[in-house]
Amino acid sequence: MNFKLVKIGQDLALESSLFKKPFQIQFAGNRNYWKPLPKKQNEPLFKAIGFKGQPLNILDGTAGLLEDSFQMARLGVRITALERHLILFQLLQDGIRRSIQDKESSDVLKQIRLIHAETEAWLKNEKDIFDVIYLDPMFLLDEVKALPKKENQVLRLLNESEKSQWISLDFLNLALKKCKHRVVIKRSIHTGQIRNEIADWPLPDQVLKLRSVQFEIYFP
Ligand SMILES: C[S@@+](CC[C@H](N)C(=O)[O-])C[C@H]1O[C@@H](n2cnc3c(N)ncnc32)[C@H](O)[C@@H]1O
Repeated sequence: MNFKLVKIGQDLALESSLFKKPFQIQFAGNRNYWKPLPKKQNEPLFKAIGFKGQPLNILDGTAGLLEDSFQMARLGVRITALERHLILFQLLQDGIRRSIQDKESSDVLKQIRLIHAETEAWLKNEKDIFDVIYLDPMFLLDEVKALPKKENQVLRLLNESEKSQWISLDFLNLALKKCKHRVVIKRSIHTGQIRNEIADWPLPDQVLKLRSVQFEIYFP
């Protein structure tokens, strides 16, 4: 595999021949986390999770780089974010540790409980029922040949060895049992079409379509 986790002083970074500079997770001042949110009510992600100003307890079962979790946490809602990849989890933990120097970021991150776990297995033993369960599985690996953002390259690089980039029907049914209001699955438009062709997959109750991705919403 074409990457390794390295220490730079006290900090962790991912080194790969794919990047010029080692990759670190940086929350403070990073537009991927701090994109402007002029009209919260129009943000598709917030519409998808059904946010209307109320407190929410959300499970993000595919933390990744925590970008979606961070946007949701900016609303003041509580997030439990699960990431199964140990290196990614360690990079996130390190980014969270360094964010203490930035009050704005650390205030948002205080809303997020990050856990290293595989979500389906973890959910089976979890007593809590969440308001919303949010899942953003990786694009099918042969679907996107060239991903422009370095962040996407990192996700792809780390996940290449993972067997399953798909959510099984059992996983969806479990998520529906463990939430009060909705399960939201973010997919590329293309993967959404593949889902339609899998006979036993239920059609979503609602779909919020954007240019390249869609949010598929299932009510329990
Ligand atoms: C497309 S990324 C998610 C990106 C994320 N929404 C963000 O905003 O940064 C998918 C991530 O979910 C993780 N993942 C996929 N299936 C998982 C599972 N069953 N349990 C835990 N993590 C999972 C992968 O390791 C990968 O890091």
